[in-house]
Amino acid sequence: MPAKVVVGVQWGDEGKGKIIDILASRAEVVVRAQGGNNAGHTVESNGEVYKLQLIPSGILYPNTLCLLGSGVVINPQGILGEIDALESRGVSCEHLRIDPRAHVIMPWHLILDGLSEKMRGKSEIGTTKKGIGPCYMDKAERSGLRMYDLVHPELLAEKVRTYGAIKNRLLTDFYKESPLDLEEIIASYTAYGQRLHKYIADVSVLADQAIRDGKEVLFEGAQGTLLDIDFGTYPFVTSSHPVSGGVCVGSGVGPTRIDEVIGVAKAYTTRVGAGPFPTELFDEMGDTIRNLGHEFGTVTGRPRRCGWFDAVIMRHSVRVNGLTGLAINKIDTLSNLGKLKICVAYQKADGTILRDFPPTIEELAECSPVYEEVDGFTGDLSACHSYDELPDACKRYIEKLEEVCGCPIQMVGVGPSREQNLER
Ligand code: GDP
Ligand code: IMO
Ligand code: MG
Repeated sequence: MPAKVVVGVQWGDEGKGKIIDILASRAEVVVRAQGGNNAGHTVESNGEVYKLQLIPSGILYPNTLCLLGSGVVINPQGILGEIDALESRGVSCEHLRIDPRAHVIMPWHLILDGLSEKMRGKSEIGTTKKGIGPCYMDKAERSGLRMYDLVHPELLAEKVRTYGAIKNRLLTDFYKESPLDLEEIIASYTAYGQRLHKYIADVSVLADQAIRDGKEVLFEGAQGTLLDIDFGTYPFVTSSHPVSGGVCVGSGVGPTRIDEVIGVAKAYTTRVGAGPFPTELFDEMGDTIRNLGHEFGTVTGRPRRCGWFDAVIMRHSVRVNGLTGLAINKIDTLSNLGKLKICVAYQKADGTILRDFPPTIEELAECSPVYEEVDGFTGDLSACHSYDELPDACKRYIEKLEEVCGCPIQMVGVGPSREQNLER
């Protein structure tokens, strides 16, 4: 049985949680390899809605092993809150494991995330303010604390005193803020470490063993390709690698072990936070899609910016991730909207047509979308139980998406629940 990677191919919130939940019914292991509690994955299961941030969506299946790899950044208070909330609803977290190499989000990361956004002023990124960027900065700078440190009180105390003192200098001398009470941090983080100790295990070894044993292993992407620190719309990106390659470095599993890469997209495009967005709609249609699709952030509640489907972005994602298939969600949201538009290319001011997504936002700023208008479709699609039941015009829209993306569409979503996913 294969190892599958599921990645977001737009700017996040494509419905990855739902797809992972569906695929996890057949998997024995689900792995997260990057990001932190900036992610918000919604899963609807048996009429209950779960909003997961760090814990893999496979947790809703009682026997599924759920792994957080070395590339994930962990807010200890956040993950404990998530464990408690799940367990209070009868979902056991006994099969959760966290890699000792995963970095820990410290109180200074949260504060510095807010302060650096404030410093940027008008050019702020619009981060989730979960301390993600500052935590990955310290990881790259080699002054981070890892989960191993968190669960070893002496190491924790020593590192908080050393690195915390430097952060306090930054807070007081540069930002003119009050220093953090490091002894208080040591006390609270020691307590978090005591509770999290039992979850620590080498994720690389566990995932590799599962693959060798022929178990189905799923890698659950967070964020999306255009939020990748290299292949996204830098600097309006997150600080990790949401692309499929990030799975290898963030879990310790080599690329030859991966069999399939499934990209998840919406039938239109959304983005939360700042940064360029070529097909963004500023008119009534944008508001209609936002309201019909309930496009408000899972983590921050911010309204998501909405726009037409962008095939230039999709072809970029097919290439960068090496996609073997696509899942297209929220086709139901586009029903009864009249004519629909699909962006098939970009045009520069001098008339040049671009088929490939430009590497920089400076080049992207020179581009405007080239649209093809297609027939819309009508009816309540959320009640369709098979692909064949979809209206012909809807099937033509999906076939058109497949043609312009250059990748087979394997699943189509007509609603948020497990049952509302049509396999082709
Ligand atoms: P993720 O971050 O990629 O897991 O996605 P989010 O959970 O942040 O946002 C996706 C939203 O769309 C959630 O509210 C889902 O319940 C919902 N959703 C997923 N698939 C569909 C679909 O096919 N149709 C509709 N109407 N909603 C969907
Ligand atoms: P899921 O997994 C959508 C965005 C933020 C901001 C930028 C940087 O639910 O798809 P960060 O806090 O990571 O430093 O913020 O990235 N962002 C997301 N947008 N979905 C997400 O995750 C996101 N995670 C981060 O809004 O623009
Ligand atoms: Mg989300």
